[in-house]
Amino acid sequence: MSITDLLNNAPDQEPERQYYFIEEAKKIVAKKEQEKGRKLTCCVTTFGCQMNARDSEKLLGILKQIGYVETEDENADFVIYNTCTVRENANNKVYGHLGILHGYKKKNRDMMIGLCGCMMQEPTVIEHLKANYKFVDLIFGTHNLYKFAELFTTALLNKKGMIIDIWKDTDKIVENLPISRKYPFKSGVNISFGCNNFCSYCIVPYVRGRERSRKPEDIVEEIKGLVADGVVEVMLLGQNVNSYGVGLEEKVTFADLLRMVNDIEGLKRIRFMTPHPKDLSDELIEAMATCDKVCHHMHLPLQSGSTEILKKMNRRYTKEHYLGLVEKLRARIPDVAITTDIIVGFPGETEEDFLDTMDVVDKVHYDSAFTFIYSKRTGTPAAAMENQVPEDVVKDRFDRLLALVQKHGHDKVQSLEGTVQEVLVEEVNEQDASLVSGKLANNVTVHFPGDESMIGKIVNVRLNCCKGFYFIGEISE
Ligand code: 5AD
Ligand code: SF4
Repeated sequence: MSITDLLNNAPDQEPERQYYFIEEAKKIVAKKEQEKGRKLTCCVTTFGCQMNARDSEKLLGILKQIGYVETEDENADFVIYNTCTVRENANNKVYGHLGILHGYKKKNRDMMIGLCGCMMQEPTVIEHLKANYKFVDLIFGTHNLYKFAELFTTALLNKKGMIIDIWKDTDKIVENLPISRKYPFKSGVNISFGCNNFCSYCIVPYVRGRERSRKPEDIVEEIKGLVADGVVEVMLLGQNVNSYGVGLEEKVTFADLLRMVNDIEGLKRIRFMTPHPKDLSDELIEAMATCDKVCHHMHLPLQSGSTEILKKMNRRYTKEHYLGLVEKLRARIPDVAITTDIIVGFPGETEEDFLDTMDVVDKVHYDSAFTFIYSKRTGTPAAAMENQVPEDVVKDRFDRLLALVQKHGHDKVQSLEGTVQEVLVEEVNEQDASLVSGKLANNVTVHFPGDESMIGKIVNVRLNCCKGFYFIGEISE
């Protein structure tokens, strides 16, 4: 069939339209299999955050339905990079990898290469790819990921050149497409897409578009289906989960949603990512305290401890407000683990500003922290700010901060030594097959004697020995 015939025959409604393309692609792939005398392989490589990891599961779900077999080897019949662009080095990594893929493609003329995700939403990236990476077959962005089956089928039939489909924004959410989960027992679940906050350093609002929430009933339905399929832990995903509900017809808050999800029978653990401090409500703290399945873990990005810098970052809270939130959280949920993201070297950051960050870190005593060196993202307000901090000064501050967060992280982990905690068993230990590895509610890893049959189960484990950032333990009756 020609591409024009294919598009003319396709239904207008979603997701039916995508299922039609899956069926058409299946036929093409089955023919190729016969020619080659083997199954076709696909490799989905993910860069970046949990949101991208979930999107990759959607890509893989469709590829598997079409008939591809998953492989981790990038020398495959179809390779797709789901890209990130939050920091400059994320982009550089992709360009580096593409060179390697070109080598594979020269040997396998039938090989197809796809690119999608946040980096593709940047016009300069597309120009660069068009000029220098002509061997790429398919490029699309974050807003039309649901169209993957359609785009992929078109690329399969396309004889010449790249297929590029990038949208500026969308208000569309398409439900009920195939998904292939990485883990049988845990899963990410999107609750909202996009971000309206426009922190001045951040590219996300430009590449993920305006915030839109999924309907609570769709979320609950999806989780019920996951539980029926063996999932015991969900991670509710949104760029700013605290503002969940904006744009929905019925009035529903993130705390309401947590309570609804908590009521789902058979589900054991609920996590969420990421809350914004400016929207952290008392109602949410209360829901976290009272919903028995919600893990006592709050990832609360600080970004900077200096009120002056926070203002320039457009974060809309002060140092004091943030510390007040932590105090409230700890008063209501004494065993809560608090983790964070911090950026060092934002434009104009003085030694005094940096010492404010160190001061907050010292006062909060985080369980762990992701520390980042500020990366200039073209198109964001911060990229045009004066007083970019010299590299050696940033490096020195970064090292001092890292030493402090590591010391605190170590103290926090150590403080649990000797206690008995619930652990979700995730896998047989890679180095020692007599051990299994799992996660505490606060996300810390524990290794202990066990076997494959325990994967996906929650067991009580005595944390015998702290090894820095993880434990060696044993089952406790
Ligand atoms: N430079 C450095 N770090 C950044 N982040 C977002 N944008 C930038 C940037 N331009 C960090 C923030 C955010 C995390 C996901 O990435 O800390 O919370
Ligand atoms: Fe970026 Fe700020 Fe939105 Fe987070 S809240 S995605 S840091 S703009």
